[in-house]
Amino acid sequence: MRAGDFMLARYFARNPDAVRQIIEQQHRLFRRLLEELNHSGVEILQNPWDMASLALLVRMVRPKTIVEIGSGSRASTLALASSAAGLNNGCRLLGIDILPHRSFTALCSGAFPDLPCCPVNDVQMDARLFEIDGDLANPVLMFYDVHDVPGEPPISQHAINRWFPRLSGETVAVHDCIPARADFPRALHGEKVLADDRMFGFLARHFSGKNFVGYAEMPVLIEYLNDRQQDILLATDDWRAMGYPDASTSVSYFRCSAVEVLG
Ligand SMILES: C[S@@+](CC[C@H](N)C(=O)[O-])C[C@H]1O[C@@H](n2cnc3c(N)ncnc32)[C@H](O)[C@@H]1O
Repeated sequence: MRAGDFMLARYFARNPDAVRQIIEQQHRLFRRLLEELNHSGVEILQNPWDMASLALLVRMVRPKTIVEIGSGSRASTLALASSAAGLNNGCRLLGIDILPHRSFTALCSGAFPDLPCCPVNDVQMDARLFEIDGDLANPVLMFYDVHDVPGEPPISQHAINRWFPRLSGETVAVHDCIPARADFPRALHGEKVLADDRMFGFLARHFSGKNFVGYAEMPVLIEYLNDRQQDILLATDDWRAMGYPDASTSVSYFRCSAVEVLG
């Protein structure tokens, strides 16, 4: 993948009204979710720009299957499923979480009864046991929002061994990955560093010279991309290019290598 041919900004350059509509809708949904979840004390694990980025990715990729790994508060499900409803292509979302904070159907019937969403199938399971079914309708958009816990079997290794080879050429969006200073020494790849003034995380050095900081899975995912010379793009850069300099999101996205064959 070359950086230039896979950009939200480029895709929507000719349709700024659609972008504005997505921003407004996702910010509205976020506010409603905030009101709703405030009562239950559940934290929302996306911000409105994360949600708008996911909604925009859905419009760009036009998936027939969305695989959401880590459904959590359901904010990402809401962004993905509401955007997919507008595709009118039969898209379905599969939500995987070992302990989802709530059922998406229950959330929608309570807080968003009139919101069109694509069909959502919640599956409660350990992602390390999840396999990509060869029959998934494509294009596929995977939203990867689970974190490796040091000392436990990593989900990221399972993703690289079992999911990505079956997602050849498909799009994966990753949450919680922020750009880091360019001057970290190479030896610090995989080590805990201070990303900026506020956040500690694991340093991941991409071959292109971009540095990222995220949870423990980030160095592993970046090594997968490095081995295949695959690019990774940050949605924040797209928003800047689209004329929204204050947009802040930790969503990044890449394409799975198109040449892999599952052994
Ligand atoms: C960062 S949260 C996901 C946030 C979510 N996308 C949202 O919008 O709220 C991570 C989620 O991963 C789930 N999780 C943690 N370990 C897991 C595992 N081994 N398999 C599946 N889900 C797991 C947690 O239950 C949690 O809901």
